[in-house]
Parts: sequence; C-alpha cells; structure tokens
Amino acid sequence: NMETRTDIKVDLKNTGIDPSEIEGRRGEAQDALNRLWSGELDFTGWVRDPLEFSDAAVNELIDVAAEIRGKCDYFLVLGVGGSFMGAKAVVDLLQSPEADTRVLFAGYNFNARYIHDLLREIGDADLCLCVVSKSGTTTETLSAYGIFKEIMLEKYGPEETAARTYVVTEHRSNYLFDMAVAEGSRIFDLALDIGGRYSVLTPVGLLPIAVAGIDIRAIMNGARALCSRETFRSDGLDYAITRQAFADAGKTIEVYEFFDPYFAYFGEWLKQLFGESEGKDGKGLFPTSLMFSRDLHSMGQFLQQGTPCFFETFITVDETSEDVEIPVLAMKPFAGKTIQQINLCAEKGVQDAHVKAGIPVISIRLPRLDENVTGQLLYYFETQCAVSALLSGVNPFNQPGVEDYKREMRAYITALDK
Ligand code: PA5
Repeated sequence: NMETRTDIKVDLKNTGIDPSEIEGRRGEAQDALNRLWSGELDFTGWVRDPLEFSDAAVNELIDVAAEIRGKCDYFLVLGVGGSFMGAKAVVDLLQSPEADTRVLFAGYNFNARYIHDLLREIGDADLCLCVVSKSGTTTETLSAYGIFKEIMLEKYGPEETAARTYVVTEHRSNYLFDMAVAEGSRIFDLALDIGGRYSVLTPVGLLPIAVAGIDIRAIMNGARALCSRETFRSDGLDYAITRQAFADAGKTIEVYEFFDPYFAYFGEWLKQLFGESEGKDGKGLFPTSLMFSRDLHSMGQFLQQGTPCFFETFITVDETSEDVEIPVLAMKPFAGKTIQQINLCAEKGVQDAHVKAGIPVISIRLPRLDENVTGQLLYYFETQCAVSALLSGVNPFNQPGVEDYKREMRAYITALDK
C-alpha cells in the first residue's frame, strides 16, 4: 500500500467523483504503469533511474559541487525547459539563504535586460558555468553560452574557462558535447533514454542542486523510496485516474495551488511536466498554478464563481521549519497567533469555501518540506504524469509541437543574415 512507502497523502474525498469509478479504472492504470516499467516504451530510463543512479555517482556529484563552491561565487546554469526547470524548482524550495555560492539561471529567455542585469550582479565575482542541453543545440541555451563564455575567456583565458565550464548533455556527438570534448570541460552524461522534463533526478538537476548546498543524497533516497511498482499498486495511481476522469467529464484545466511562495517554480515544473507530456493530439488538461494567499485576492474570485472549467489540486505542507508570531499590538483576532497558524486557517477556509461552491478539489499533503520529501514528490509527479498521458492515449515523452516553433524561429534567425 502506498501509504506505507510515502509521506505524500492524497485526499480525493472532495472530487465529487464516485470512488467506484476510480476503482473501475485501476486495472487500466496498472497496465500503463507496467508499460512504463517494462522498457517497451522509449524514454522511460527515468523510471528506474533513482535505483540505477548509484551512490558512487551521487557522491561524485557532491564532490564536484564542493569543488565548484570552492572556486566561484556564482554558478550560472544555462538551460531551458527540462534542462533547468526542475533544478530551479528544487533550489528555490530548499536552498539556504546562507549558501556561499549562489546558483543563478539563464538561457531560458531572450531578454537582453535580463542578461545585462545578471552581468551587473555577477560583476567581478568568480563564476562557473553549467551548460545543460540534451540535444546540445538549443537556441536559448547556446546563445547565452556564447555571451557568458566570451566574458569568461576575457577574465580567465581558455584553459581556466574550460575548467570552470561544466556540461550536461547526452554522451554522443552534438555541438555542445563536441565543444566540451575539444576544450576539455567536464561532461556529465544525461542518459539517452531520459527526456528533459523527466531529468531532474539526473545530473541535469542534481549538479546545480548540489552546488546550492542541498543534500542530494536525501533527495535520491526520497525518490528511491517510491521507485518501485509496488508503491503505485492499489490506490497509488488514483491521482492520475482522477485527472483522467475530470478530463472525460469535460474539465479542461487543473489548477495547482500552493500556500508557500517558495513553491512558485515547483508550479512551473509541474506545468512543464504535465503540459508538455499531455498536451497533444487535441487532448490534455491545461495545467496552471496559483499562489495563495496572494491570488485569493485576484483569481480567488474566478475560482469561487467563474466558469467551472477547472478542478483544483492543493499542494500543502503541514509543518513549517520557521514560524513568526504576530505581536499582540497587531489587530485582533490575529494578534498573538503565528503566521503558520493563520496560513493553515487560510488553507482550510479556502478549501471549505470552494467545496461548498461545488468545485472539485484534490488535496495533496506533505508532512514537512525537506530533501527526502522533495525527492518523493518529484518521482511521484513524474509517474502520475506519465500514467495520466498513457491513460489519455498520448505519448508522454515526445513534444512535436515544440519542434514546430523551433523550426519557424530558426528560419527567422537565419534570414537575419540576408
Ligand atoms: O522536456 C523537454 O524535452 C524539453 O522541455 C527540453 O528540456 C527543452 O526543449 C530543452 O532541450 P535541450 O535540453 O535539448 O536543450
């Protein structure tokens, strides 16, 4: 039973879906899970990766991360989509504000002001680069790489620049791989059978996360605790089944809701994971995310009384590592309570109000937020997402629509030469 293996508690009692309907679909969901584990599908290396990615490989990343922290103030990760989203989500969630080396991200937009501001922030401080691209050819990543490489060449010269450049890509010839080999930069392999958005538990995510001083051993242990077919037996795939039931019932949007601003990028990671895996062949739930209590004062109105095209998935944490008391001089009845107490009241109040309005609500609760639980959460959602996509009959692991925009954009860029 899932309950014994994971800290993630999923409550489906407010979905309005008949439990017998969910039970009736469990066989189909188990078939999908078996297909993921059987190896018959391409790009399912992530399924076993937490077990197969050895302790020695994790320790090596930890050692390299320590070496990197010893020589730079900023570790600048260049990547887009699955090549940065998971790392940023985890760094934002777990990084200690006292970390000596700051992990920054670029190469996920084409905004010149963003690059200028980064350059200003980094200034004369010591820098290392982490260039992450499975294909080794992505425009966002490689144009940013060119800009930062030139700056590093001026400051450090070619040899030192190569020694300060860490590359994560597939172990086969591509622009980035070939350049790293020629220049002697350190290369970390992204397995050929793992796609970008399922790669956070590989060096793609783990290297930047380790440089941020976060315990990647504990993250991997959390993921390993779930990494078995048994975890997802019985009611273990009910979240995926419920999503599919909503889609069949005409809901088109899943709203992930958080009460903790450090989850903002985790929401982005979920949007990428589900949106890019499921949104094809005219199908898929549109994933979006809201941050409470901020968005209760904006989208809260729509949720309560607007078009009922969505269902909600609350992702909440029971315990907070820090708490702050509201002083007695504050307004009653808040005075003397803690911020966390009020946050939990907000959470219960919103859920009650939405359930009373007839909005379907899924609740996913975590006992606390630490590395182990985060590892569980990442693997949990990867599995639920892949099963969801298979239940709706689409391939979770391709992104033909993304390729379309790349082609069109490249044509405009090439035309600039004329
Ligand atoms: O999930 C995916 O496959 C994509 O979002 C990719 O991660 C993204 O397009 C970046 O690709 P690459 O790692 O090849 O630079």
